Amino acid sequence: MGAHHGKLEIRKDPFGTTPDGKKVDVYTFGNGRVTISMLTWGATIQRVETPDRRGRVANISLGFDNLPDYAALSPYFGATIGRYGNRIAKGKFSIDGTSYQIPVNNGENALHGGPLGFDKKVWSAKTVQTSKAVGVAFTYVSPDGEMGFPGELTTTVTYTLDRDDNLRIDYHATVKGKPTIVNLTNHVYLNLAGEGSGPIDDQVLQLNAPKYTPVDAGLIPTGEIAPVAGTPFDFTKPTPIGARLRGDHPQLVVGRGYDHNFVLSTKTDPDGLRLAARAWDPEHGRTVTVRTDEPGVQFYSGNFLDGTFLGIGNKAYRQGDAFCLETQHFPDSPNQPNFPSTVLRPGQTYKSTTVYTFGTK
Ligand code: GLA
Repeated sequence: MGAHHGKLEIRKDPFGTTPDGKKVDVYTFGNGRVTISMLTWGATIQRVETPDRRGRVANISLGFDNLPDYAALSPYFGATIGRYGNRIAKGKFSIDGTSYQIPVNNGENALHGGPLGFDKKVWSAKTVQTSKAVGVAFTYVSPDGEMGFPGELTTTVTYTLDRDDNLRIDYHATVKGKPTIVNLTNHVYLNLAGEGSGPIDDQVLQLNAPKYTPVDAGLIPTGEIAPVAGTPFDFTKPTPIGARLRGDHPQLVVGRGYDHNFVLSTKTDPDGLRLAARAWDPEHGRTVTVRTDEPGVQFYSGNFLDGTFLGIGNKAYRQGDAFCLETQHFPDSPNQPNFPSTVLRPGQTYKSTTVYTFGTK
């Protein structure tokens, strides 16, 4: 699929009001081919509309059409995740000898920044429009001590779409007062056949990951960095997601499917990003490519979707109806000395970029 030259457009509409009276907007931006809707609630990707190989447009991102459902039901659909993506064992960590406690919200562990993470905050928003791209810069200031994290963290995440169907996410954060830990990601759930269209078993995935980080029963990494070769975690060659999903590998049983951090190949492209993943739907031909400068990606096969609520298209979401590719530093890094550090100190800048490219084949 080559470049195309639709007009870059953006609009803003009211989406709802939080119980404490904060207004939430939806920004819709597009290039004439791909259209993205994003909420100021959680800096959330609400819709990703892309054509299939015959030009039929569908929303390939799981979500809701109203704010109360996001607030009450959303398992992080499309949300910007912070201050710390994925798990911290028992919610505990220490920096420079000082211990901190994040309230736990996933069994005995803290997940995705604790019970009131960045996904449940109203972010301020500014439209970004250049000759090449259009989108929104979202900013959230997290006070010192919020969810137990030290230091006042100012985070800006800029989502832009260009004419070549690249949705680029630029993360930027600085901390004041105390050192902290940061691990930002986006939790978009994709179904390349369209949200609500059924399981993603036949959708094909390739991960640029020779290794992964096995987990314990609470989905905390054991610390081991294991080769994927010879296991159902080997996606180095394109493989249907469902091909080995029901196998007896203990790690698949523990995760109820794939819910693991994959360690990306360190080879980078000239722009500093590396290929993390490619996925496509052989039936309709939609493709997505994920590139990042992060060392890992959480591949999650929608294991906890259980049909208990209806999504944006009024269809129930059931187990395995979507997949997530969450670029990240490794889970529980603050407690794992052999994982790359997630500490951010005053005076330093956290910067990270992930690009999702939507196409057809
Ligand atoms: C991440 C976690 C999963 C699950 C989902 C949201 O992918 O690793 O275990 O919590 O978020 O439900």
